Amino acid sequence: MKTLIKNGRIVTAVDDYTADIFIDGEIVMTIGRSLDIAADTVIDATGKLVIPGGIDPHTHMELPFGGTESSDDFETGTRAAAYGGTTTIIDFAVQTKGESMIAGVDKWHAKAEGKTAIDYGFHLITTDFEDKHTEEMYTLMDEGITSFKLFMAYPGVFLADDATIFRAMSAAGERGGLICMHAENGIVIDEIIKRALADGRTAPKYHALTRPTIAEAEGVHRAIAIAEMAESPVYIVHLSCNDALNQVREARDRGIPAFAETCPQYLFLSIDDYGDDFEGAKYVMTPPLREKHNHSELWKGLKMDDLQVVSTDHCPFCMKEQKELGKNSFAEIPNGAPGVENRMSLIYNGGVHENRISLNRFVEITSTAAAKMFGLFPRKGTIAVGSDADIVIFDPNRSQTLSVETHHMNVDYNAYEGKIVQGVVETVLSRGKVVVKDEEYVGEKGDGRFLKRGECVGV
Ligand code: URP
Ligand code: ZN
Ligand code: ZN
Repeated sequence: MKTLIKNGRIVTAVDDYTADIFIDGEIVMTIGRSLDIAADTVIDATGKLVIPGGIDPHTHMELPFGGTESSDDFETGTRAAAYGGTTTIIDFAVQTKGESMIAGVDKWHAKAEGKTAIDYGFHLITTDFEDKHTEEMYTLMDEGITSFKLFMAYPGVFLADDATIFRAMSAAGERGGLICMHAENGIVIDEIIKRALADGRTAPKYHALTRPTIAEAEGVHRAIAIAEMAESPVYIVHLSCNDALNQVREARDRGIPAFAETCPQYLFLSIDDYGDDFEGAKYVMTPPLREKHNHSELWKGLKMDDLQVVSTDHCPFCMKEQKELGKNSFAEIPNGAPGVENRMSLIYNGGVHENRISLNRFVEITSTAAAKMFGLFPRKGTIAVGSDADIVIFDPNRSQTLSVETHHMNVDYNAYEGKIVQGVVETVLSRGKVVVKDEEYVGEKGDGRFLKRGECVGV
């Protein structure tokens, strides 16, 4: 299959020019002006942006959590991602306590194999890591799983103590692996939660009020300090607030390889969204939504490269029957919110359209940086000769309204209901195949492939 994309404005993390792209099979073969090459499909991209497919390095499809399972599986979740202009996800496989690391990854292969609309990789949530696990970690790295998430939160479920974190960081750092850290002081938070529940403070808003920003900042500080001692890089996931960002800033100013992502929910939503009633359960995610003043600091962090990536932490649970598990107590509400479909449009709108970041930086934080960070560049994350033809044709002149009525995620609410965003994902190619055409999905279940990732090199 040969495809020619004509006259688009090609924007990468560093380029911005008008040209044609000739795709042979899965790969970009030629980029040039007025290409005269025979193709099976010709797409006119005049007046449109032609950008690398988005990479969302933080999703949870079919995650067993909080007494239920996240409501998107690999079929529905990756299809929704494609609709939104994301052509690669990196999902979190889970090693449950006592289980081998390899068994955790095998479970995730079984969930995803033959089901996805777009390419996918895995990190591994690592709950046990003794020195004896080092060989297993290296086996997984040889198989393309080169990043591992550890938690300082959720005692009894995921929490890893400092010794475990140190061991895992030392081992990963030795071989070009990366530890992704959920950085919050979960031990102290659990004590604060106990007090709230004892006082009868059970509504969803108390999820936020029992997880202070200082608990996140302390986690980030400790994660970076342990990484420094282990002589390893560290990547802070879902960073939500300025207190935590200051810890990353301080480390980066000292030349420490500390990296971090934030997510759209921390840039657009706030603690005010919880309200006083159970509707606030829609926003029960961890870390929680913060005070509005954090938004401008996080945007500044993205602009100045103290934050490198915008992921979604897509972890949807329906209000009906899932979030409802916590009707009587916020502590029983499954943690997580949907977002994989809306990331590119939200960040284009809030970033480029509202003049907070450049178009090149938009591409960098939604695609290129994640590819570099997680061992996928230059195969993914750019438009260049020899790269996978993961390409989005984006119309910056149209707008859309985000809504549960029109989204494709398998969840009964949209966290941004009614928000109007400038820019529409019109056409999406995944390794040269058109999977979204004129805003309609035309791909097939199983189009996506598992990505063996290389060393995590940072950005
Ligand atoms: O609330 C969240 N973030 N749920 C997903 C699990 C995690 O901590 O990333
Ligand atoms: Zn987390
Ligand atoms: Zn997550």
